[in-house]
Amino acid sequence: MSFRRLAVFASGGGSNFQALLEGWRKGVHTLEPVALLSDRAGASALEKARTAGLDTAVYGRGCWGPEASRSGEVLEWLRARDVDVVALAGFLRRVPPELVSAFRGRMLNIHPALLPSFGGPGMYGHFVHEAVWRAGCRVSGATVHLVDEAYDRGPILLQRAVDLEPEDGPAEIAARVLAVEHEIYPRALAQLADPGFTLQDGRAVPCRAHT
Ligand code: GRF
Repeated sequence: MSFRRLAVFASGGGSNFQALLEGWRKGVHTLEPVALLSDRAGASALEKARTAGLDTAVYGRGCWGPEASRSGEVLEWLRARDVDVVALAGFLRRVPPELVSAFRGRMLNIHPALLPSFGGPGMYGHFVHEAVWRAGCRVSGATVHLVDEAYDRGPILLQRAVDLEPEDGPAEIAARVLAVEHEIYPRALAQLADPGFTLQDGRAVPCRAHT
């Protein structure tokens, strides 16, 4: 199945969305961003998407979490736009099982740490970098993984580590990691689109390029 059309889910500023959009424009990956969905009407990612001419929508209460009663509406919205791949980019809600299974193997998330460390419920945004700082880590990084029914646990597709300076605080760590996020997320989409990954014992193994 060749993937062509990308939807992004974002709750905040949308810098990862911008990196995915620019990655497509520069040919780093071939997945055209066609839609952006948020759970917050005030998310500035929505403004970035509208400026880029994408379809946007806001889905809030009842659409997220394991008991979501309205997740079918989100699925319909994605299907109506022929979306092949979903990228979570600074999206803070738990994706309901119906959506995870409908997009199994083609829904990705970026996490601002080297999973499985510093992941799971409550570990997002500045909470992650504070935990990395408090632990006295000398490296941090970012992880792109496939989304499954649990927070931050799906098969890892791509990771990149970044060295930290002893004097770095949580804000400096966040800035170093965000730069890495913007670099690896478009590359993970490129690999997913072609030649893809195979799942072996729960591990995502890159397929060999077609010669
Ligand atoms: C990023 O570090 C992302 O990993 C985290 O939220 C931060 C903001 O992302 N989940 P963005 O600028 O909204 O893409």
